[in-house]
Amino acid sequence: MTDLSPYRVKEMTDYQGDVEGASTPMELYEKLSEQGGKVRSLKSAEADKAEVDAAVQLLLQLKMDYKQMTGQDYKAGCPPSVNDAAPNNGPAADGAGEDDTVDPWTVSTTNATGVDYDKLIVRFGSSKIDQELVDRIEKVCGQKPHRFLRRGIFFSHRDMHQVLDAYEKHQSFYLYTGRGPSSEAMHVGHLIPFIFTKWLQDVFDIPLVIQLTDDEKYLWKDLTVEECHGYAIENTKDIIACGFDINKTFIFSDLDYMGSSPEFYRNVVKIQKHVTFNQVKGIFGFTDSDCIGKISFPAIQAAPSFSNSFPHIFGSRQDIQCLIPCAIDQDPYFRMTRDVAPRIGYPKPALLHSTFFPALQGAQTKMSASDANSSIFLTDTPKQIKNKVNKHAFSGGKDTVEEHRKYGGNADVDVCFMYLTFFLEDDEQLEKIRQDYTSGALLTGELKKILIETLQPMIAQHQERRKQVTDELVKQFMTPRPLNFNL
Ligand code: TRP
Repeated sequence: MTDLSPYRVKEMTDYQGDVEGASTPMELYEKLSEQGGKVRSLKSAEADKAEVDAAVQLLLQLKMDYKQMTGQDYKAGCPPSVNDAAPNNGPAADGAGEDDTVDPWTVSTTNATGVDYDKLIVRFGSSKIDQELVDRIEKVCGQKPHRFLRRGIFFSHRDMHQVLDAYEKHQSFYLYTGRGPSSEAMHVGHLIPFIFTKWLQDVFDIPLVIQLTDDEKYLWKDLTVEECHGYAIENTKDIIACGFDINKTFIFSDLDYMGSSPEFYRNVVKIQKHVTFNQVKGIFGFTDSDCIGKISFPAIQAAPSFSNSFPHIFGSRQDIQCLIPCAIDQDPYFRMTRDVAPRIGYPKPALLHSTFFPALQGAQTKMSASDANSSIFLTDTPKQIKNKVNKHAFSGGKDTVEEHRKYGGNADVDVCFMYLTFFLEDDEQLEKIRQDYTSGALLTGELKKILIETLQPMIAQHQERRKQVTDELVKQFMTPRPLNFNL
């Protein structure tokens, strides 16, 4: 993968804290285990966010102390040893890194550079998008790979080589992605899968279906059915503003489409019959006190992976390959789908997985729409963008200009730099920024300014395009109808 990835794990060599109250590695190890347990129980008790954050901060601090004292990374279940005997691929009970949590509802890690995505690939059993695959995509579609591919932002896949093999033999495929409409407020992180899906649609010239899971949000959140449906319509405007081709795109709300499509519902019940309660408990962690709507919902997110769920587009064909671009946290749904597919006579969907878009406060967690200060919203004014970046963006810079000039900044933990890897198109410019920041030639304030000046026009243009989206256009995109394509 490329050097530009913001997620290369690097030691934090400049840390000078002292190891309070623990004088031996073993004592510190025990403190760490205890703190890890505390974080887990706070999370499972859905404790107050501030309380969880504070506990996570302390855990992070202890981990750095441990690294400094022992020269080893802390691993849950592996007490310190003189020689580093900790197995690399040991069965970390609960995580990619030992405290990484990645599922459809939670993304968090105690590592400042973010989730360890290589370990996640091993844990999820997917494949890495390596340079060879990126080159192959370039060759097959005949276009320069999207920056999300060049920079490892889409980093993992399932069966992408098969999709390309078939495409080269003139067997085409369709795209499926989605969004859970939990509020009107979408942030820049939400656009990542859509920006990439639009690129795939353009370069492969293929149809696309977009599912808005308003039913899911009703089941999971404290919202009314009508609120969720309303958010689905509002979010659709932002999705359309990404530039999808109306002749090749069908967007649907589950609450509307499920009831109107016998073919879709037939697939839902076929899936439901082939997955047990035990399996969804294992995959999604449902418990006996979750409502039955949640337990059966995964079948509804699985159904669009099968082409005959959309007879107005694909007729009765059930053999058309589906490719799903999504953030890695959605993978559990599609592991289940791929398990069921052959048993009900359908091809398995292929997948392209993205990393998360980090919160302004740092890569320990992803952006959250419910925390205004963690996100850049699509409705933010230029001034709000400037203030948020200046006030809240976690910096990898040093405390004083003198120190920064002398030692340089750490781009790997710097949120402004991470955001630039998502949005700055020019590879050379990005690399120069990384070098200058690392050497100390570029100051934190200057880096922030570059990001602000990248985001402001980008968001303003999105707002302009969204304004052009009329209710009539929304209706057209959401009407079941034939699409234009050759398979
Ligand atoms: N569950 C997803 C969410 O909460 C929405 C979704 C439905 C989705 N189908 C999808 C996302 C397919 C990616 C791909 O955001």
